[in-house]
Amino acid sequence: MPDQDELDQDEILKLSREVEAAIAGAASLEELEKARVAALGKKGSVSAMLATLGRMSPEQRKVAGPRINGLKKSIAAMIEERQAVLGEQELARRLAREKVDVTLPLPPAPLARGRIHPISQVIDEITAIFSDMGFSIAEGPDIETDHYNFTALNFPEGHPAREMHDTFFFNPDEKGERRLLRTHTSPVQIRTMESQRPPIRIIIPGRTYRCDSDQTHTPMFHQVEGLVIDKSSHIGQMRWVLEEFLKAFFEVDDVSTRFRPHFFPFTEPSMEVDVQCDRSASEVRIGQGNDWMEILGCGMVHPNVLRNGGLDPDVYQGFAWGIGIDRLAMLKYGMPDLRAFFDADRRWLDHYGFRPLDIPTLFGGLGS
Ligand code: DAH
Repeated sequence: MPDQDELDQDEILKLSREVEAAIAGAASLEELEKARVAALGKKGSVSAMLATLGRMSPEQRKVAGPRINGLKKSIAAMIEERQAVLGEQELARRLAREKVDVTLPLPPAPLARGRIHPISQVIDEITAIFSDMGFSIAEGPDIETDHYNFTALNFPEGHPAREMHDTFFFNPDEKGERRLLRTHTSPVQIRTMESQRPPIRIIIPGRTYRCDSDQTHTPMFHQVEGLVIDKSSHIGQMRWVLEEFLKAFFEVDDVSTRFRPHFFPFTEPSMEVDVQCDRSASEVRIGQGNDWMEILGCGMVHPNVLRNGGLDPDVYQGFAWGIGIDRLAMLKYGMPDLRAFFDADRRWLDHYGFRPLDIPTLFGGLGS
């Protein structure tokens, strides 16, 4: 009959072989980890065997203790060895699987794929042209008061010109005042006069709103306002500035314009400007042909407007204009439907958009 030591020896040997087989049979690092936990983990087989030491007599423990601890160490060493082998195998498999074909074409980077919206592009173009003429940019709020949008701009109370603006009004506040979405960029004329002394040379690009929607009108649209005020600014300068702008913007050497008398409450005299164009092709061509197209409104700033802006009309005079940016963009880049501008359709933007690094400059080209 085997004595206790031999029996222990047998059991240790048996366990040792079992664990060895499990380690050798582990085909992946994951399986190896399972084998490790099964042997050396808190509830593992070797740990369970170590726990039996406590129940042994001191003599038995003297013999069995070092053996079981030896087994634990040798298992740990085997696991480490196996880990190295499996690790290498797994790395080799991954390298084979994740092989990169460096001859494949690269997908375009975000900077190459992204597109600048034509409105942003046209605002940048307009800014480049007027900056070159010494203008700076001014901005104002989209939500305006009746005072800045109408009254200060010389729209009398109850005047039909107010109704013509199809204004979006907010509900009246506690004082009964109704704020509104500005119907034009002209209120920034007053805000600028209030905040800076002449000479004033600014353009005001921005969003404007009117309750209107069809192929060439959207409830939100964009205008660029111009304002020049000094002691001797005159209508001849206005004509030069506007014609230089039109030539630069449409990238043509010459453009004929027609200044027609018109009415705006904030200018006197007021004019609408038509540009020479050719409508015989599918797209309108500016600067050639013998047709006319209305493109902007302008005039000499009304004395009441100067006064409302805190300037003395006996000292200062000036001129102003307003242009629809969206329409300029449609004309220049041949986009037929304004509503598509605001549909956020990526296919449209891919087609009509501009590359982000092609920044419009007068020397490098505006819309290239
Ligand atoms: N505010 C006008 C509009 O929206 C456009 C305009 C016309 C602006 C003449 C001006 C101007 O500054 O002088 O219809």
